[in-house]
Amino acid sequence: MRHLLALLSIFPWRTLPSYWKARAYRPYKARYFHNLTGPILELGAGSGVNFAYYPRGAPLTVIEPNTRLHPWLHWRAKQAGLPLTCIANPAQLESFPAHAFQTVVGTLVLCAVPQPQETLQHIRRVLRPGGSYVFLEHILAPPETRQRRWQQRLNPWFRRYLAACDCHRPTDHTIAQVFPHAHTTHFQLPGGFPLTNRYLIGRATT
Ligand SMILES: C[S@@+](CC[C@H](N)C(=O)[O-])C[C@H]1O[C@@H](n2cnc3c(N)ncnc32)[C@H](O)[C@@H]1O
Repeated sequence: MRHLLALLSIFPWRTLPSYWKARAYRPYKARYFHNLTGPILELGAGSGVNFAYYPRGAPLTVIEPNTRLHPWLHWRAKQAGLPLTCIANPAQLESFPAHAFQTVVGTLVLCAVPQPQETLQHIRRVLRPGGSYVFLEHILAPPETRQRRWQQRLNPWFRRYLAACDCHRPTDHTIAQVFPHAHTTHFQLPGGFPLTNRYLIGRATT
């Protein structure tokens, strides 16, 4: 009973919606998030939804500024057999030496970082030659659409009250600028939250 209560107290209840979405992303992730090799760096790991895609034993470093999630991440990493280093300070990305990682993973995180282009340059820098950047990000609706106008109008409100992230960033173009040869797929989640239901998923090899 004591163990159950301890587990319930570290469970990241606020991330529950991402569990439901994780099911919808699964067929898309299956196409790109396979044969990932360590050492792996994950940016904004959240509740660790991507740990299931990492091979047991692969050294894993995560940057997750929300320290309340760290005990949960440690618990999940232990279950998945992943030796985990958990870092809270996002600026640490700049301090990693070049070519430190074989794989970098980022899902639904470029909407939250202050400078996405700079973050992507660092991702490129820390990847080894032949390494992979795998990603899933929500993106802007096409120009001149109602959805795009609502993304623009509601962005300040969305950022402040709902998600602490930006729903009005051209993330697909930003990724293409830094990783022009990435293999990607655009998809939509029907019934998803209308400001963030368009996605780009993909993999770039350096
Ligand atoms: C929408 S959640 C996505 C979580 C998880 N990757 C997923 O796919 O469900 C965004 C995560 O990025 C983290 N984050 C915010 N700013 C960050 C930054 N500058 N560097 C790394 N992670 C960041 C947040 O704490 C949060 O856990």
